Amino acid sequence: MKEHKALLVMILVLRLCAVNCIEEKLLYSTFGYVKEIDLKSGEVKVLLILAGNYMLSLAYDYDDRYLYIPKRSGDIIKFPYPSNQTVQFEFVVSTNGPLGIAFDSVNKHIYWTEDNKGKIMRCNADGTNKTTILDERQPSALSIDIENRWIYYGQDLNNGKIYRLTFDGKDRRVIYNLSSNMYGIQVDVIDKRLYWNEYYTGALKSVWYNGTDVQTLVNTNLGQNWGLDTNDDFVFYSSFNSIFKMAKSVEQTPTVVHNDTEQIYGVLLYKHQGKDYDENERMSYTYIKRVVDEEGNFHTSFVMFQFKSNCRNYQEAKYSTGKSIFNKTAYKSEKNNRKEEKPTQDV
Ligand SMILES: *[C@@H]1O[C@H](CO)[C@@H](O)[C@H](O)[C@H]1NC(C)=O
Ligand SMILES: *[C@@H]1O[C@H](CO)[C@@H](O)[C@H](O)[C@H]1NC(C)=O
Ligand SMILES: *[C@@H]1O[C@H](CO)[C@@H](O)[C@H](O)[C@H]1NC(C)=O
Ligand SMILES: *[C@@H]1O[C@H](CO)[C@@H](O)[C@H](O)[C@H]1NC(C)=O
Ligand SMILES: *[C@@H]1O[C@H](CO)[C@@H](O)[C@H](O)[C@H]1NC(C)=O
Ligand SMILES: *[C@@H]1O[C@H](CO)[C@@H](O)[C@H](O)[C@H]1NC(C)=O
Repeated sequence: MKEHKALLVMILVLRLCAVNCIEEKLLYSTFGYVKEIDLKSGEVKVLLILAGNYMLSLAYDYDDRYLYIPKRSGDIIKFPYPSNQTVQFEFVVSTNGPLGIAFDSVNKHIYWTEDNKGKIMRCNADGTNKTTILDERQPSALSIDIENRWIYYGQDLNNGKIYRLTFDGKDRRVIYNLSSNMYGIQVDVIDKRLYWNEYYTGALKSVWYNGTDVQTLVNTNLGQNWGLDTNDDFVFYSSFNSIFKMAKSVEQTPTVVHNDTEQIYGVLLYKHQGKDYDENERMSYTYIKRVVDEEGNFHTSFVMFQFKSNCRNYQEAKYSTGKSIFNKTAYKSEKNNRKEEKPTQDV
């Protein structure tokens, strides 16, 4: 019975995808603003103005479609995104100088850091049950590995480290011990790597989840790198007032996506299904979604799509109960050989 339901959900997801293709918007924050860039047209839109406020990171809940924003002055707020209406933000929880934020879509929890208070905190999506997870020196940005259930975070220190932490805050391990002033980190589920920015050095680095194979993708010496996000093929990262885009593989040249007039802090790639699709474009993407079955059980679903030339060429979508079971071998080989037109079946 259970398997049948899983299959039904998977087919439904694939059908939806066959008629709607993918659009990507890049959201970012500056002093007093949250803005959106349409990556296709380059058009920039102001989503929220909060004059006099630093908003140093962004997180998104793909199920309920809210953008969560930590105001440096205290509160975490949220607003519905996307939305056609003028943004009306809502108060979520009061905090002490929040810096980093991440959303756990499996348990519907918000995690954030308070660098000066030295805390990693959590609450429910509605702001209830505020809990200290860990006391830590200057914790900065954090990111969640939703598949393996870890938190990764760094420190606002010259000689900081990158750590991996369990959700209960009890098991903490060093992943990298030479990180400096790290304000942007992103777990990459597909590549099983972490990507992060170092502020003063302007370095963009990555490492396997287990701490081996540290790579420096960019070392500009320009500095003031802050937020970043990834899709299957690219890293988008901020460096002072510009957002750069770079292919993930090493020795690539970054290109400027957008120049703002102010320092860019949070960077978040919003992936969704839309109709505005370029016929000549090839792309792949992954997102993580929570599904509720008929019995009211929650499941975490990793959905992966690849398109080539038309919207019907999806490659793979997988559904799982609790933990991801997507076939990475099949996905990777498709990714490396995009001539394949048939959808793969692997149930
Ligand atoms: C926004 O408005 C457009 C056109 O008026 C409509 O097609 C679209 O569905 C609306 N989107 C949302 C999220 O309400
Ligand atoms: C509140 O958090 C504690 C531990 O952090 C957990 O045991 C408890 O179930 C949570 N309660 C609610 C209502 O979320
Ligand atoms: C940092 O880690 C490397 C290997 O990961 C280790 O060889 C080195 O001793 C560590 N350095 C410090 C200062 O802990
Ligand atoms: C670390 O992870 C990578 C990728 O999964 C793997 O190839 C490597 O063997 C691992 N190294 C150690 C020391 O566990
Ligand atoms: C951003 O600014 C740089 C340097 O001033 C310039 O070379 C580049 O063309 C600009 N790019 C965009 C997309 O505006
Ligand atoms: C995953 O896909 C590969 C290539 O299509 C196939 O050889 C392999 O048997 C699949 N693995 C599982 C566990 O289904």
